[in-house]
Amino acid sequence: MAVGAPKNIQQTLVLIKPDGLKKSLTGNILTRLSETKLEIVAARITRVSRELAVEHYKFLQDKPFFEDLVKYLQGELHDRRKAMAMVYWGEEAIARVRKLAGATNPEEADPTSIRGSYGRITTLGLYENVIHASTNPEEAEREIKLWFSPDDIIVDLYPTKTITLNHTTSRVWA
Ligand code: PPS
Repeated sequence: MAVGAPKNIQQTLVLIKPDGLKKSLTGNILTRLSETKLEIVAARITRVSRELAVEHYKFLQDKPFFEDLVKYLQGELHDRRKAMAMVYWGEEAIARVRKLAGATNPEEADPTSIRGSYGRITTLGLYENVIHASTNPEEAEREIKLWFSPDDIIVDLYPTKTITLNHTTSRVWA
């Protein structure tokens, strides 16, 4: 990059999926992701409802593996009904995280990448690829707004509005 060129500051959603949690890979994955030098600006462990999983993967509803993918993210295949969601923030965050994550198909992923190191394809053909990382800025925005409320994130990423419900005021995505 040329000296003085503006930095492309981005945010991206990273999910450690239930297989990553079941295999106790959280520490390893966070260590690998720290190589990006990006900042974690939001994090939470959460149950994943069917509604959340369906909305997260809504563009894949026509795929033959969609129902299995939803069950996988909900933790039904691993007896671990939780996922860890994080927002990484900094220069070229999307590409940097996806490079460390490796290719979506764990068999095609660089063996030194996170998915190449820890992912697998089940005998039924389902990718268990340990993490999700947003594909582009539009998807990152959609996904971050789906998994987090404005006050869960320590920087202001997108416009918000204030609403009052039952005498309680809170910030929501505009
Ligand atoms: S990507 O990364 O979005 O460009 O890749 P794409 O190929 O479009 O895949 C989108 C998500 O679908 C998952 N996927 C599968 N899951 C299970 N089985 C099969 N065969 C399969 N093929 C694709 C893939 O893991 C992507 O989800 P995430 O959460 O991003 O890994």
